[in-house]
Amino acid sequence: MHVLHVVGARPNFMKAAPVLAALARVSGVRQTLIHTGQHYDSNMSDVFLQQLEMPPPDLNLDVGSGSHARQTAEIMSRFEPVVTERRPDLVLVYGDVNSTVAAGLVCSKLQVRVGHVEAGLRSRDRSMPEEINRIITDQLSDLLFTPSADADENLQHEGVDASKIHRVGNVMIDTLVRLLPQSLRYKPHDLPARYALVTLHRPSNVDNPPRLRELLATLAELSQDLAILFPVHPRTRQRISEFELPHTAARLCLMDPKSYLEFLALQQGATVVITDSGGMQEETSFLGVPCLTLRENTERPITVSLGTNRLIGRDISLLKSEVRRILAGDIKKASSIPLWDGHAADRIAQVVVRGKHLL
Ligand code: UD1
Repeated sequence: MHVLHVVGARPNFMKAAPVLAALARVSGVRQTLIHTGQHYDSNMSDVFLQQLEMPPPDLNLDVGSGSHARQTAEIMSRFEPVVTERRPDLVLVYGDVNSTVAAGLVCSKLQVRVGHVEAGLRSRDRSMPEEINRIITDQLSDLLFTPSADADENLQHEGVDASKIHRVGNVMIDTLVRLLPQSLRYKPHDLPARYALVTLHRPSNVDNPPRLRELLATLAELSQDLAILFPVHPRTRQRISEFELPHTAARLCLMDPKSYLEFLALQQGATVVITDSGGMQEETSFLGVPCLTLRENTERPITVSLGTNRLIGRDISLLKSEVRRILAGDIKKASSIPLWDGHAADRIAQVVVRGKHLL
């Protein structure tokens, strides 16, 4: 059986790594790894592949950046001949980035089976490109691997046949569980006792000059209460410079994007995480670190109901009061989330192998 994996952007790598490893333990499975090149800076891609101990990609499509239409179309036209030549039995796509939907569309037109890892998540906010990518990818997929019961319900509500849905848990947590001990060696020796770890890259926060200005000013203000460590996504770095926004304050530290292990160590030791990322809502919930999410909605509601996540939306005064509440020791306790146990990829491998007879 030939399984082809498609990755392209930073959050794909930690999801694909455990699935590649789990399928490598199964006899009779041949694997191919295709990197679309959506993310190409070494600190957004290469360092992740190395630290996650992934095999080098068999091919990089080198698509690079562009508008959504251009990037998606470029991935599709470069990926189609790869599928035609390599004839995989199953293509696995991950998460909700443009590489995910582009690869799914190509395969469904070529009638190659698609498995979607992290299926069923819905924010119900169609202004987010990721929500469109999720809905379409799920409609195209033959195997839908979900992280939680809410995702199963979303899919059934959209008419997906229950026999295609497999609740396996969270593959990103598999990677976290495996690498947490190793990451602690990457903890800087000069870390402040209390700090907020910040990431921002959503268009709704960083593409709008008054919003980004307000967020940077708030971080500068909060840095009077605790140090702020802010690894800056390339998109955000570009916007700060394009809009010529002030971003300096004594304890506000903007830095280049971190590797997986460095970042995990920073997350684990943080007093609070402030973010608009999807994956960090999950990682902080698992680690028991308070998370304040600068979004109006989340496709990961279980991180709010069972985890440490709190939605802040666009309310800056709520952000400030929540940070101060956490500094005063009033911390939301997390419960463990079913199937987020480090074995999701093994469950995916079992489903894939069970389906071999369908080929
Ligand atoms: C993409 C995903 C988003 C995910 C995020 C994680 C989509 C629609 N969005 O957003 O869901 O949360 O990745 O990082 O797929 N750039 C570089 N170097 C790189 C990559 C990007 O400088 O290696 C810059 C380019 O100017 C590019 C911009 O960042 O135009 C945005 O990159 P893009 O891949 O379009 O989207 P992300 O914002 O990274």
